[in-house]
Amino acid sequence: MTDNQETQDAAAEDTSPSGSATLPLRQPCERLSCHKSSVCSRSYFVVVMVFFHVYIINVIALLFYVHYNSGQEDASRSRDAPSSSHQRPESRRPPSKDEFQRDISLPRIEGIRVGHVQKVSLVSGRLHEMRTLSLKPLLFEIPGFLSEDECRVVMQLAQLKGLMESQLMVQDGQEELARELNLSPEEIFNLLDINQDGQLQLHEILTHSRVRDGIWLTPENLQEIYAGLKADKDGNGLLSLEEFRLLSNDAFQRFLLQRGVKRSQLVRNSRHTWLYQGKGAHQVLQDIKERVIRLTRLPPTLVDLSEPLQVVRYEEGGHYHAHHDSGPVYPETACTHTRLAANASTPFETSCRYITVLFYLNSVDGGGETAFPVADNRTYDEVSLIQNDVDLLDTRRNCDKSNLRVKPTKGTAVFWYNYLSDGRGWVGEQDEYALHGGCMVTHGTKWVANKWINIDPDYQRQARYQQLVSQQPEEEEDDDEDLTMNTGIQSPSIHQDL
Ligand code: OGA
Ligand code: CA
Ligand code: FE2
Repeated sequence: MTDNQETQDAAAEDTSPSGSATLPLRQPCERLSCHKSSVCSRSYFVVVMVFFHVYIINVIALLFYVHYNSGQEDASRSRDAPSSSHQRPESRRPPSKDEFQRDISLPRIEGIRVGHVQKVSLVSGRLHEMRTLSLKPLLFEIPGFLSEDECRVVMQLAQLKGLMESQLMVQDGQEELARELNLSPEEIFNLLDINQDGQLQLHEILTHSRVRDGIWLTPENLQEIYAGLKADKDGNGLLSLEEFRLLSNDAFQRFLLQRGVKRSQLVRNSRHTWLYQGKGAHQVLQDIKERVIRLTRLPPTLVDLSEPLQVVRYEEGGHYHAHHDSGPVYPETACTHTRLAANASTPFETSCRYITVLFYLNSVDGGGETAFPVADNRTYDEVSLIQNDVDLLDTRRNCDKSNLRVKPTKGTAVFWYNYLSDGRGWVGEQDEYALHGGCMVTHGTKWVANKWINIDPDYQRQARYQQLVSQQPEEEEDDDEDLTMNTGIQSPSIHQDL
């Protein structure tokens, strides 16, 4: 019991006898039962009654006060923090105009165990086999998902449309970027020195270079640069602050540009294009979309509102170093596809690709596997991905060290979840194990297609986006069963289709 409670209790004891105030007050009357009794009893009675009434009125007033005050607090709390209701969907307050009840659970296919095969019905009159390749990430393989003809049509449509370079060469803008960099050498050094040991290890510089300009340096490249710039004076393979200070801001970039950057030195070396899969698209493209809906068991609207089909071609020597198809989601991250429904401008934006379905459109003569460097690892250790000697993200050199590799076979589809579940039927955190890349093609050409299914981990934003899209004016002939989010449908029915 706290001190405060003790005093309160004592006060309560003091006041309690006043509830039976008539008892001790009656005693003098009894003792003076003879003379002056009428005057005495009347005045006493009046005084007692006055006190009694005042007491009762006070108690009632107090009760009113308490009741009113707590009511107001509740009201002001819910006015000041409307966002808190996002964390408390179970609150009994009815959803406000822009809030949607989570009345949907996204299905997630069970992997059971690696090697487990389940039959799936994707087209009428035939069952496909779906094999679990890994649990972390949840990854499946479906041979014969596309027919030979379908693969041919998709490759031809992509050629007809024209494929563009997937990554631009290092732009001229780099120098301007370096000039604008308004940080002292000490500040830059401190930011790059991830482990804060006062030295720049090779991998600390490699990681930075990839993020900054998309050039994929190997440890050897970097050592060449050190030698060319005479940067590592003591030759220990590390850069100290003193050594770093002697370099200009864009020394590395300038060195590289002078020597020339090859396509093979970029993060990604391929060409791609996008194919629309909606109404009016080639029947093969619409069929593929329908099959993806049956495969993933997701509400059709989510697939309809996702990115078009991306078709990618790697020439011999092409590659795509290990990456995530979608970024981590912080509270201040917006998804590209739901930008329309974001409340304010947000500092980060990512694609929010809940699922990747990757189709192999041809069988590759040599190389070109899809590698998952950390699939089903016991632990995920970001730091040990890039050691000074082995870089597990490098799909030109180290695919053989990846935990899992899928060989491209014409017509096979693989699909995986880039996000975990939030445990309540919606999209949760990014799955770090979903790291993957395309190994270097050593012989021939490689053709793949990506179908990404975009879902915003922020349920409210996804729902708002779908409502906005459903309110867009539609063409007259668009009123058949396929468009489930018709205008005029009240919001409750719209979320059913989420
Ligand atoms: C991609 C990708 C893998 C591959 O296009 O995002 O990861 O095997 N491709 O080509
Ligand atoms: Ca360091
Ligand atoms: Fe990818």
